[in-house]
Amino acid sequence: MAQLAINGGSAVRQKGFSEWPVHGVEEREVLLEVLESGKWWRFAFGQGVALADPKDGPQSQVAQFQAEFARNHDCKYGIAAANGTATLEMALRALNLEIGDEVIVPAYTYIASATCVLQNNLVPIFVDVDRNTYNIDPDCIAQAITPRTRAIMVVHFGGQPADMDRIMALAQKHSLHVIEDAAHAHGCEWRGQKAGSFGIAGSFSFQASKNMTAGEGGILCTNDHELAQEVEALMWAGRRVGRPWYEFHRLGWNYRLTEFQAAILRAQLGRLAEQNQCRQANAKKLSAKLSQIEGLQPLVQDERTTCHGYHIYMFRYDESAIGLPRDKFVAALAAEGIPAMAGYTYPLYKNPMFLEKNFINGSFPLGTPYHDDIDYASFAKVCPVSERACNSEAVWIPQHVLLGGAEDIDDVVQAVDKVLAEKNSLL
Ligand SMILES: Cc1ncc(COP(=O)(O)O)c(C=O)c1O
Repeated sequence: MAQLAINGGSAVRQKGFSEWPVHGVEEREVLLEVLESGKWWRFAFGQGVALADPKDGPQSQVAQFQAEFARNHDCKYGIAAANGTATLEMALRALNLEIGDEVIVPAYTYIASATCVLQNNLVPIFVDVDRNTYNIDPDCIAQAITPRTRAIMVVHFGGQPADMDRIMALAQKHSLHVIEDAAHAHGCEWRGQKAGSFGIAGSFSFQASKNMTAGEGGILCTNDHELAQEVEALMWAGRRVGRPWYEFHRLGWNYRLTEFQAAILRAQLGRLAEQNQCRQANAKKLSAKLSQIEGLQPLVQDERTTCHGYHIYMFRYDESAIGLPRDKFVAALAAEGIPAMAGYTYPLYKNPMFLEKNFINGSFPLGTPYHDDIDYASFAKVCPVSERACNSEAVWIPQHVLLGGAEDIDDVVQAVDKVLAEKNSLL
């Protein structure tokens, strides 16, 4: 076989994959429309300064986007915000939990799934993920429940819904709230129901890499009227729907989305179903081919997952079977023009923030004596799957690689074959 690109040979893939973000005449027209309208934020000066009821007056881009996205995700209410970190934080804040209550969080996820807990003076308790899906493992949730547990943070990791049958049953049995971090799961479905609509709240991100994007942005979806009102108030500096402009009812922020972002997101939403279909079809082809290679195991698409967004396409890499460290494999694959990554370098609890408990004003969390003895390093003992995924096993391929044709998938497979055939040159 040819010399590896990392050793000076020529790369299998000479051009990029599908461009991301996708945009077209729809975005251009609507952006110009907003620009020229002079109405760049959601409310009308003068009349709309109190919280706008989306049913009132001319519909802003934000109000229309909220309604369209929520409807598309089996929810009655959508509250658009600046990003998916903010929507997670507000969802927990709106539940009015008590300082020091525990929230169960998967160890294998982005930092915001856990920092939203700390921002509310609650305690994140980490649990492991399922080796087949890298989603939160319901058995591990069951083992972590204590009398102080109040909520489960479910992350639909990589775009595959977590096992919502078992999670919702556990939540019901123990009277726990379920917050869905659906930052990766736009349009994804579990048994035909949209991710984000199972728990009390579903949070989505529109940051640049996400399957729908306006550069930044987020939305909180819910079927709970009271929670929707609370989140709207939190996002709008503590004001309340229908109350005067200069009346603040609770501690809030300004987390508002602009009209430009909402306009782009409405156009992006129009492409989502087709893009999800395309990613799923390509993922199926890729998995069929990679699963024939000894030492590689694509993550499983659960048969109850009726739509997988493949925000991240993932496979497991068996270092001992292959005889080449995962990180060398990934670097060689990247040099062949395939944007592969090893993903997270360690589970969340191994970040300095947790090891040093460097949280709010050095206190953990403010005002609770009971959790001082938590040693976040010790979560490694109960999270072997997350540890292994980070240390040696997980390989990620970003969603846009799956937005092209069959030849793109062939190039990924050819590059993998090439690297594995020449692995000795990397040792
Ligand atoms: C799992 C997960 N949750 C939450 C977020 C936070 O979203 P944002 O970047 O919009 O704040 C992200 C984004 O990277 C994420 O990957």
